[in-house]
Amino acid sequence: MSPSDISEAIARLAKERDAVILAHYYCVPEIHDIAHFVGDSLGLSQEAARNPAKVIMFCGVHFMAETASILCPEKTVLLANSAAGCPMADMVEPSDLEARKKELPNVPVLTYVNSSAKVKALSDICCTSANVTAVLRSLPGPRVLMTPDRNLAQYAQKLVPEKEVILWPGFCPTHHRLNLAEIQELKKERPQAEVLAHPECQPRILEEAHFIGSTSGIIKHCATSPSEEFIVLTEAGVLYPLAKQNPHKKFYQPKTPMICPNMKKNQVTDVLAALETLTPVIKVPEEIRLPALKAVERMLAIPRD
Ligand code: 13P
Ligand code: SF4
Repeated sequence: MSPSDISEAIARLAKERDAVILAHYYCVPEIHDIAHFVGDSLGLSQEAARNPAKVIMFCGVHFMAETASILCPEKTVLLANSAAGCPMADMVEPSDLEARKKELPNVPVLTYVNSSAKVKALSDICCTSANVTAVLRSLPGPRVLMTPDRNLAQYAQKLVPEKEVILWPGFCPTHHRLNLAEIQELKKERPQAEVLAHPECQPRILEEAHFIGSTSGIIKHCATSPSEEFIVLTEAGVLYPLAKQNPHKKFYQPKTPMICPNMKKNQVTDVLAALETLTPVIKVPEEIRLPALKAVERMLAIPRD
């Protein structure tokens, strides 16, 4: 089948199945082009919750489809490629979190949505990179245990100094591996460029940035900034909407590729197969879903900063 035949078949099947296609910015351009909604983690959760479609066709990673299943148990949630996981989410074992909670009684647990449903179920509240500071400020007491991303936690700690954030040793391999010398070299080569970074980068990388934000925060910033050139320190998938929305602006990335191999597993042929077969279904069992829902709903009730 040609690419346009595939796109047409997907559009037809999505209609027949009453499916909405949700895609994260880190997916390949072909996925952006067939999606009904492309967004960041928070935007995708909100869209999953409000969209009336019977089927949610998720192009992203496993925890994102799980979040949709937590929010919409009556819907069929499909993940384009069931092998698309998130190594950061796998850095918290539920049993390890249970043990840590026993060591820290009365300390609320704030969990990044990049986590399994089981870990969300053990948490008091969730956050994304777009609302982490607002969520942190909303919590009672002076101390908070934050899982799994230690980089996001350190970023939030800096902005919310009135809380003591206890770190979990997780990280996103795609953002964590950025090399400081390489970024400094790139800044010298492109002295006019604004440096934009995702808070999953390490603190020493964030110190080099002029703007820090979630994927949608970075995209919004590029549209409104008077700068003409940007060094973009997040996964390469955002370059596609950035170039489309700002055809006269220039975007640069470090030589070390910023690619999330799991996000790239979602291909249009997978979407077609998933809509044809209505598999693979991601369904969170009710005993995990209900406590996880509390943590996600508490987050959704807090407006973005
Ligand atoms: P956001 O889109 O929420 O910024 O998340 C980044 C990410 O790593 C998703 O896996
Ligand atoms: Fe996980 Fe990082 Fe990939 Fe996001 S970019 S899915 S946090 S590995």
